[in-house]
Amino acid sequence: MKMQGLLVTVAAFGLMAVVGGQAVAADRQIPTAPADFLSKTSPIKVDEADEATLKEGGKIYTKKCQKCHGETGDGQGSAAGELTIKPTNLSAPGYMASRKDGQLLWITMNGSPNTEMKGFGPGSEQNYSEDDLWKVIAYMRSAFTK
Ligand code: HEC
Repeated sequence: MKMQGLLVTVAAFGLMAVVGGQAVAADRQIPTAPADFLSKTSPIKVDEADEATLKEGGKIYTKKCQKCHGETGDGQGSAAGELTIKPTNLSAPGYMASRKDGQLLWITMNGSPNTEMKGFGPGSEQNYSEDDLWKVIAYMRSAFTK
C-alpha cells in the first residue's frame, strides 16, 4: 500500500517535470525578423538543389552549428547542456516548414540577442557570406524532419 503511494507520487513528479519542461520551451519566443528580411526568399530551391550545394551547406553546419543544434537538428548537441536558453529543436515535425527563409537567414546572420546563438553573417567573427548561409539553410531544410 505504502509502496503504491510512493510510485504514484514518483510518477506524478515525472509527469510534472515533462510538462514543465515543455512549458518553458513553448514560452520562449524567438525574436521575429524585421519585415525587409522576412520577405526575402532563398535563391536555392531545395528540391532542385544540386548535391554539391547541399554538401557545402552541410559542411558548414557540421563545423559551426552541430555542437549546439545536434547532428539531426534536434538541439541536443554536445554544447547544448550548459546553455540556459537551449538551442532550438530544428527537427521538431513542422518546425522548419513553419519558418520563413527570411527568418532563418536573419537569425543565422545576426544571431538572437542575449542568447548563445551568435551571428555568422558578413562582418561577424565567422564572416560567412549571405550565399554561404543560404546553403546552410538549404542543407537544414533538406536534412531535417520536414
Ligand atoms: C553556441 C550554440 C549555438 C551554435 C553554435 C549555433 N546556434 Fe543556432 N541557436 C542557438 C540557440 C541558443 C538558439 C535559440 C535562440 C532563442 O531562443 O532566441 C538558436 C536558434 C537557432 C535558430 C532558430 C531561429 C528561428 O527563428 O526559429 C536557427 C535557424 C539557428 N539557430 C541556426 C543556426 C545555424 C545555421 C548555426 C550555424 C551556422 C547555428 N544556429 C549555430 C544556439 C546555437
